This record gives sequence, C-alpha cells and structure tokens, in this order.
Amino acid sequence: MGFLGKIKRRHKKKVLFRQFKSVGLGTFEHVSSGVSFIGPEFCSLGSNASIPAPASISCIDLRAEGSNFAPSLSIGNNFCANTGFSVFCGLGIQIGDNCLFGPDVLIMDSDHGDAISDVPYQKQCRRSAKVLIGNNVYLGARVVVLKGVTIGDNVIIGSNSVVTHDIPANSKAGGIPAKVLRVWDAKTKTWIKPQ
Ligand SMILES: CC(C)(COP(=O)(O)OP(=O)(O)OC[C@H]1O[C@@H](n2cnc3c(N)ncnc32)[C@H](O)[C@@H]1OP(=O)(O)O)[C@@H](O)C(=O)NCCC(=O)NCCS
Repeated sequence: MGFLGKIKRRHKKKVLFRQFKSVGLGTFEHVSSGVSFIGPEFCSLGSNASIPAPASISCIDLRAEGSNFAPSLSIGNNFCANTGFSVFCGLGIQIGDNCLFGPDVLIMDSDHGDAISDVPYQKQCRRSAKVLIGNNVYLGARVVVLKGVTIGDNVIIGSNSVVTHDIPANSKAGGIPAKVLRVWDAKTKTWIKPQ
C-alpha cells in the first residue's frame, strides 16, 4: 500500500475509534485497521489491547427484536487476541484484564429462538445471557464460549473446547462441554487433579 493509502486507512481507523464508548491508551496502535467492528458505540476497550486482523467484533442492538437492553461489550487492559477472534454480543460480554486468547476464539452471548413453528429459526427472537470472563484468563486456540457462562480469574481453557457452563477460578478446563481437568494448589504451587 502506498503512502496515501496508509494515511487514508489511518484516518478511517481514527474516525472508527471516535465511535467507541471508550478506548484506553495504547490500544489504537495495537488494533489492526482490518478488524471489523459493528456497533463500536456499545464497546469499551481497555489500554494496550491488541487485536490483529482478521477479527470480527459485532455488538448488535437487539432492542429492535424486543430486547430491553442495549448490548455492552467490555474488554479489559492488556488484552491479547490472536487472528480469527470473533465476538457476537447482543446483551453483555465482559472480558477482564491481562487475558490471552489463542487463534480463532469465538464468544457469543446469544442464540436464535429454537421453537419449531411457521417462523424459521433465523426470524425468531434471540435468547441472550451475559458472558463474564475474569482476569488473567487464557483461552486456547479455537475455544468457543457460549451464552450465560462465567469463567473465573486465572482459568486456562484447552484448545478446541466448547464452554457451556461456568468454570471456577484457578482451574484448567477442556473438552466439549468443557469440564475442570486440574485445579491450582496454592500450597504446592502445582496443578492437581480435582478430588
Ligand atoms: C489446556 C492445556 C494448556 C493443558 O496443557 P498441560 O498443562 O500440558 O496439560 P496436561 O497434560 O496437564 O493435561 C491435563 C489433562 O487435560 C487434558 N487436556 C489437555 N488439553 C486438552 C484439551 N484441549 N481438551 C481437552 N482435554 C485436554 C489432558 O489430556 C489431561 O487429561 P488427563 O487428566 O486425563 O491426563 C493445553 O493442552 C492446551 O490446550 N493449550 C492451548 C494451546 C494453544 O491454543 N495455544 C495458543 C497460544 S496463544
């Protein structure tokens, strides 16, 4: 890309960043201009957050579908995503500080309605429940986190896992659905099998 192209791209990114609810220091430089944001006005990014392209972050206002709430996505300080990061936020997704996500992580807080009727699934109102991810959480490559899940501080989720239930703090979890595999033993400072 030529010099002019670079200037145009930077300007476009500046215009986009002005639309965010809030953005911390150092994040502008570490979010690639190729990252796709829908609904940036519903999104807060902490300081030094890094999101490389390709990535797709969508905050969809479901009030048009009858929801009582605007979506709210909050990503903490020192966030480090890898390529292929995808988010669908229709209600609330909160990611704490110092989180590390491997490639192709997907987080969704909403599903389409699932009634069998004259109305196809794609036209049914979405069902949403908040997703809360604590501080210092490490999600391996291709982890999927589904609606209503809380992941505690210091959790590690193994690659390819699908998280459908809460995972307690200070544990390692994995599988489909993700289950606790190890817990941190503060006395011996090692990971041990849960009792
Ligand atoms: C979860 C992970 C961190 C565990 O690593 P580890 O500490 O060396 O794992 P352990 O060998 O102690 O495994 C503990 C148990 O978890 C199981 N396990 C490990 N990874 C798993 C996964 N992704 N899904 C399901 N189970 C998994 C192991 O088979 C073992 O089971 P066991 O209790 O029957 O023996 C690792 O397997 C992993 O998935 N890393 C993510 C890599 C990645 O995505 N990197 C991107 C870098 S940004």
